[in-house]
Amino acid sequence: MERKPSAVLIVALILWTFGVAGTVILPLFDQEINSATASGELRNYQEDSAEARGREIYVQNGCQTCHTQFVRALPADTNQNLGPVTKGGDYKYDLPHLLGSNRTGPDLMWVGLKYNEDWQRQHLIDPQSTSPGTIMPSFDYLSNQELDDLVAYLMSLKPTEERLEEYKKELNDAKSNSN
Ligand code: HEC
Repeated sequence: MERKPSAVLIVALILWTFGVAGTVILPLFDQEINSATASGELRNYQEDSAEARGREIYVQNGCQTCHTQFVRALPADTNQNLGPVTKGGDYKYDLPHLLGSNRTGPDLMWVGLKYNEDWQRQHLIDPQSTSPGTIMPSFDYLSNQELDDLVAYLMSLKPTEERLEEYKKELNDAKSNSN
């Protein structure tokens, strides 16, 4: 039987329409994805705050080319103790999104939990001094003000206390289940 090219085209078009509806249009109506989580609200920075300026510096210096901000619900991520798996609503105000796609360095979604300001500053100026052997470049050319802003941004990358407690509880439950 000979197939008509137009029939193939119509089937392809129908499949494409389903694909777009499922992955682009339907999520627009999903409240859970579209309303900010409490942790997402923490990233709703005031215009011209230190954190907002720091975020700009993060983008301008291409930090997102080596770092993701995205904890997936996969053992590869959850086994690394990166913090809570992220939800759509965490990114409500993260525009343009800094999800990243390449983890040359570790994920930074919740890095504000990990270090204090002094460590962050020292690491940006001279990464080798805090992390011997690292390939992270030095950002010592940033001005003091820019470093302050960037550190403020990095320190703000945290979940709420509640979300953190929830996460710790999940970790404990998973541990006691595996024993
Ligand atoms: C060429 C890739 C590269 C670029 C660009 C880069 N980093 Fe990194 N970063 C790394 C690597 C590798 C590590 C892991 C070793 C270390 O601590 O230095 C790291 C570690 C970090 C850590 C510690 C993370 C942790 O969980 O221990 C922070 C914070 C960080 N980078 C912030 C930044 C910021 C902010 C920028 C942009 C100003 C940036 N990085 C640019 C590669 C990069």
